[in-house]
Amino acid sequence: MNIDVKDYFGLISPRPTVCISTLGPKGNSNIGPYSFVSPLSFDPPLLGVSAGKEKDSLLNARDTGDFVIAPLTKSWKEKGVKSEVNLDRSKSEFEEVGLSEQGSRKVRSPSVKEAPVNLECEYWDDFKIGDHCWLVGKIVHISAEEEAVKNGRLNIEKVGAVCHVRGEEFTIPRDIEKIKR
Ligand SMILES: Cc1cc2nc3c(=O)[nH]c(=O)nc-3n(C[C@H](O)[C@H](O)[C@H](O)COP(=O)(O)O)c2cc1C
Repeated sequence: MNIDVKDYFGLISPRPTVCISTLGPKGNSNIGPYSFVSPLSFDPPLLGVSAGKEKDSLLNARDTGDFVIAPLTKSWKEKGVKSEVNLDRSKSEFEEVGLSEQGSRKVRSPSVKEAPVNLECEYWDDFKIGDHCWLVGKIVHISAEEEAVKNGRLNIEKVGAVCHVRGEEFTIPRDIEKIKR
């Protein structure tokens, strides 16, 4: 049977979904969901997102030098997914989808008030990769609500990200199983 090769990405799933928030050229806030995301390095703590070449999040991060990653959780999943809306680069997508901005500690890009965890990133670099760019950020601060932390670590069972499969299919991992290693 012939399957469109582009269909491959559904197999690399579920993929934790995050929202990237940035500041636009006129100081307006911008937000959008992304699921082609990966940790890249511990020291320094680098994270990568594959973004379409013209995506506002990418262009803003490159221009301003920072961005914030908010893993999407159950409590704000609809609004987070809706932030896919594509407004003019100078308009606020936060307002459009009913999300609230909150000042970040170490970067200028806003954090997402509704998100229990926000990862503040400095723009590190970006690399052309096919029709996307691999945007790399260095995490300089993690802000987490009290309920998102257990024994001094992020409580993944509580704040693990809503994951994307493809199209409108998502899944929320529930069980964490231990496998000896
Ligand atoms: C769940 C979900 C995951 C997405 N993942 C990606 C992705 O990894 N890379 C990408 O370029 N676009 C992705 N998109 C599409 C972007 O969110 C969409 O193009 C959005 O308008 C980009 O916003 P921006 O231009 O403000 O950055 C995804 C959309 C959804 C709903």
